[in-house]
Amino acid sequence: MIRIGALVSGGGSNLQAIIDACKDGRIDGEVVAVISNNSRAYGLQRAKDQGIATYHLSSVTHPDEEELDKAMVEILKGHDVELVCLAGYMKKRGPTFIKAFANKVLNIHPALLPKYGGKGFYGRNVHRAVVEAREPRSGATVHLIDEQYDHGPILAQVEIDVKDEDTPDSLAARILIQEHMIYPKVVSMIASGEIDLDDFDTSKWTPIYLDPA
Ligand code: GRF
Repeated sequence: MIRIGALVSGGGSNLQAIIDACKDGRIDGEVVAVISNNSRAYGLQRAKDQGIATYHLSSVTHPDEEELDKAMVEILKGHDVELVCLAGYMKKRGPTFIKAFANKVLNIHPALLPKYGGKGFYGRNVHRAVVEAREPRSGATVHLIDEQYDHGPILAQVEIDVKDEDTPDSLAARILIQEHMIYPKVVSMIASGEIDLDDFDTSKWTPIYLDPA
């Protein structure tokens, strides 16, 4: 069973999708710790409701970024976490964190990276930009993190059509359904060894394209 840690900033519906998949056996794993930079994040409540250990760590509790990274690593390692899932986590982590979990930190982004990612492309902004550009397709991407926003190697994507009548909100809602499919699926493939992150070589990797839910 793979031991999963998660970082959340908001509602935590992707965290819930991962917790549910662990509980019903789709993921051979367990979410053992959840950290948020936002003490009022509903994602923390979701974790508490399942008896999962929760922590609030932020630039308020740790003004020095390096110290914050160290504190987060200490908590996650203390729970023997093997895989970290960023699930609507709005902050970037630094080299200390990334080195401690090299190739073991996943993120989900609600667009087809490398387009519509990076600084400023979060939440509704992503979908507004896609709709305004009249993109025919959008979707969700699960990728490994590096030190830039939405930048590390892409593990998997799912695509859907953007409809003429789509608004940023309607598109966000349809993509969120796909996020709740693709994120647990990728975690399950890591847990089963189908995706081998212990031996991950970006130059030999080709992203997986999943059918929409
Ligand atoms: C999702 O759209 C995710 O792709 C993005 O932030 C949103 C988080 O939603 N990174 P939730 O907190 O998982 O409900």
